Order: sequence, then C-alpha cells, then structure tokens
Amino acid sequence: MLTQSIVANPTYEFAADVRAGLTKPQQKELLSKYLYDDIGSALFEVISFLPEYGLTRADERLLRRHARDIVELLPTPVAVAELGSGSGKKTRWILEALCRRQRTSYYPIEISPTALAMCARELGDIDSISIVGFEREYLDGLLEVAAQRRHGQHLLVLFLGSTIGNFDRPAGVSFLREVRRILAPGDAMLLGTDLEKSSAQLSAAYDDQLGVTAAFNLNLLARINRELAADFDLSQFKHVARINQEARSVEMHLRSTRQQTVTIPGAELLVEFLEDETIWTESSHKYSAEEVVQIARDAGFLCRAQWIDEEWPFAESLLIAE
Ligand code: AVI
Repeated sequence: MLTQSIVANPTYEFAADVRAGLTKPQQKELLSKYLYDDIGSALFEVISFLPEYGLTRADERLLRRHARDIVELLPTPVAVAELGSGSGKKTRWILEALCRRQRTSYYPIEISPTALAMCARELGDIDSISIVGFEREYLDGLLEVAAQRRHGQHLLVLFLGSTIGNFDRPAGVSFLREVRRILAPGDAMLLGTDLEKSSAQLSAAYDDQLGVTAAFNLNLLARINRELAADFDLSQFKHVARINQEARSVEMHLRSTRQQTVTIPGAELLVEFLEDETIWTESSHKYSAEEVVQIARDAGFLCRAQWIDEEWPFAESLLIAE
C-alpha cells in the first residue's frame, strides 16, 4: 500500500485541544477523537467482541450478508474511499464483491498510521485491488481522493461503524453536507448508524462488566500523562456511562472521585477538579431508520436502500448524491 502523509504537529494540536477542553467554565471536555491512540484503538477492538456491545458485529453482519446487493446498486466504474478504515476487517466483504466485478482502487483515510498499516495487511490479499492510504482528517483526505479520480469514475464513500453517532446531530448533518459537496451527482455513500435501543441495553454496552470500556475511557487520561507529562492519578477517576434521553445519546464521562489538582506541563496547565466533577469524553447518538433517510435528504442524498440488523438494531443505508 502507498501511504501519503502530511504530519502537522500532532502533539501541539493535542496540547491545545486538551487545554481548551479542560479550561471550559462549565463542563470540562476532551475530544473523543483522542481516545484512539494505539492503546485506545486496541481497546476498541476488544470492545467490539464484548457480548454487551453488539454494534460492530451488527455492522459486519449486514455487510457480509448484503455485500452483493449493495454492490449491484452502485454506479460503475467506482473507486472506494473509506472514512476511518480502522483495521479494514468489515470492509473486506464490499471490496471482494466489487473486485469480482471490476479492478478496484481503495483509499482508506485515517489519522492513525498504525490503523492504515493494519488495514493494508488485512485487505492486501484481495485480487484486483489497489490500496492507497491517506493519513489525513476525513474531509481533507476525501478532497484529495476526489481530485485524483479518473474521468467518468464514480466514488463510493464508506462511513461505517456509526462513527456519525459520535457527532452531535447538527454536526452530523453538516458533516454529510460537506461530504456531499465533495462528491458528484450519482456518487454513493454507505452509512452505518446505530439505532435507538433500550436504556438498559445502552448502559450495559457502554459500561461493560469486564471494564474494557472503562479502560478505553481512562486511557485518555493515561495518554495525557504519556504525551503531555501530566500527573493524572487514574485511580481517582471513574468511568461513567450516562444516558441522555433528550439528546438520544449515551455520554461517556470521567468522574473525579475527590477534589484534586492535576498538572499538565505539556499543555502549560494546572487543572482543579471538584469532587464528582466530570470530564465529558464522548457522545454516541442513536438514530431511527427514518431519521437517517431524512438527514441524508437534508444533506443532498437520496436513500436508495437500507438494511437493518435483526439482532442488534443497526442500519446500513446506501445514499446516492443528487
Ligand atoms: C466508534 N464509535 C461508534 C463507538 C460508539 O459506540 O460510539 C465508540 C465507543 N465508545 C464506547 N464504546 C464504543
């Protein structure tokens, strides 16, 4: 796989975002994208095997079962760009079905070089595939992919795993609009979204018995210790999964179990925590299947087909740019 990379100054950006998030006057916050360093990504892989967390398996099941139907509905010829490829495991089904029909260029777009390398290892054996990875933020990478397309070639954008749920609702629609702006009419997007389910199911999924999700969340503080020389005492913070009925989301927080002060030299920061004060680290919004059709329409896509998993409410929606 060829990888094109630009490296800005990731540590500087991380420090600036940590500083901005932990000095917010009301609710302290850390951006969820920082959950995914090498350790966080490995922990997320483990989460996807937990009995309580069915999201990733539902996504994979739908792609495995319906890859052929999905491919039949795609414009031709088509190149594939994936926003946040992760390990690339679930993408295999679509790519194999597509490669049976045509030689296929696949462009995974990821900020993690480790994930890009894993993805190339996982998918490199497929016949008739060429893989070019982009170490970029999603929209920057997609712009570059679109600029490289051949005349008459369509694009299929994969945005799987319900990553859209980690945006708040208005930001989710704006993101889809941005993607639509980069695409040409007739291009396609396959969007995976986790659907609404009971509070009990969500609480179990985001606060599993083994404590893997807790470790995934706490690793963010450990990462700040590692990369910004901070002195978070991990035993003094507890993982909390909170259902937000109004926002139809699950929030992850880290709760300070006592009043304490933390120093973060790499961000030139000293932070005071009250007892029970939390840092908000992630929101995972849940959608209804009809709502997905509606937000797609608001962003300039027509929903051509939708597949819903029967075991774990999850939808795969094939959107066509109008
Ligand atoms: C990546 N994302 C869709 C996951 C989710 O369910 O929102 C991240 C995650 N957070 C806790 N468990 C999994």
